[in-house]
Amino acid sequence: MGSVLGVVCCRFAVGGWVRRVAVRAYVTGGTGFVGSNIVKVFAERHRAEVHCPVHRFVPADEGTFTTERLDMLDNEAVLASVAAFGPDVIVHSMILNDFAAMYADRDLAWRSFVGTTETLARAADEVGAKLILVSTDWVFDGTQSGADEDTPPNPVNIYGVLKMASEQVALLSAERAAVARVSAVSGMHWMRESTPRVQDGGFGYFVTSIVGALEVGRSFAVWEADDINMVASPSLASECAEVMWRIAADEAGVGVFHCCGAESTGRMELARAACDVFDLDPALLSSTAPDRSAAGAVGEFPIPYDTSLSVRRTREVLGYEPPGIRELLNRFRYERSTGALSH
Ligand SMILES: NC(=O)c1ccc[n+]([C@@H]2O[C@H](COP(=O)([O-])OP(=O)(O)OC[C@H]3O[C@@H](n4cnc5c(N)ncnc54)[C@H](OP(=O)(O)O)[C@@H]3O)[C@@H](O)[C@H]2O)c1
Repeated sequence: MGSVLGVVCCRFAVGGWVRRVAVRAYVTGGTGFVGSNIVKVFAERHRAEVHCPVHRFVPADEGTFTTERLDMLDNEAVLASVAAFGPDVIVHSMILNDFAAMYADRDLAWRSFVGTTETLARAADEVGAKLILVSTDWVFDGTQSGADEDTPPNPVNIYGVLKMASEQVALLSAERAAVARVSAVSGMHWMRESTPRVQDGGFGYFVTSIVGALEVGRSFAVWEADDINMVASPSLASECAEVMWRIAADEAGVGVFHCCGAESTGRMELARAACDVFDLDPALLSSTAPDRSAAGAVGEFPIPYDTSLSVRRTREVLGYEPPGIRELLNRFRYERSTGALSH
């Protein structure tokens, strides 16, 4: 496992023998759920200089990173912004997080996913940076249980198609590119009080919402149905970010990686495990049919059933040993109770 960090740290700045001491990371979607973890892990744990283009939400206290107002759909502005910052790595986690909008405006959806990736691939090459595209287990069709990094994707909805197309654009057009697929992500949102949804047809925000409800004595009805994502490989957002750091730092960190835990599970099983680890009352859990009127509505588009992943290549290439579900939940509990990153 060869590290490029040594190279980066010894690079000399233009205009004098000034030693560069930190990796420079350009993180899109850095004010989002996953992105806020990438920013925190890179900036706080690894002392990277992090720059975030921000969109509608502007964080109150930048603290350890810098921001600039930027619409990622403005290609020329994005190219200029990346050139001005001069990153060593670009992590692209920005997303149009709205299924209805993706279906209603296909052009906007394509530009938001594939177009932004194309622009960032060009921007990365212009400054000699590595591009890491954050992607998803929903590139698989729900019957490809235990899909590994080399399993051909077969998406069943527009989000999966756009992500698969973005993956190909990143891998084929940037000189140095990686795809970091995350799945069933729980954890802290370090920049905003609330997550975009409480529950949807996937596992996003699922554990976070359960813990938030049960710890104040509210009940939580777990959606269970044949037409939603019932099995997945849970991950912790900060741990996903840590794997992305390794991808950034390792010369071999190109190609596809799976940033998730070692185990797969079902929705109710995961909810019960969360109760166990967080000392919450499992009697407050119930099973119910999905709310088909909710945003990101179930039933309006196909959802993959079993998106469990294997981390075979990620283990081999990065020497990474993914944690099990209880370990991830314990780390989430630590982060929630201390307001600090786990380990
Ligand atoms: N959450 C999960 O469970 C999950 C699972 C699998 C994969 N992923 C992947 O993880 C990544 C992040 O997802 P997330 O759940 O963290 O999403 P999120 O919380 O909704 O964050 C999306 C981010 O993108 C920004 N953004 C949207 N449109 C923009 C634009 N035109 N220009 C600039 N910024 C823009 C948003 O800023 P504003 O809000 O200010 O517009 C926000 O910071 C995505 O690539 C997603 O596919 C997530």
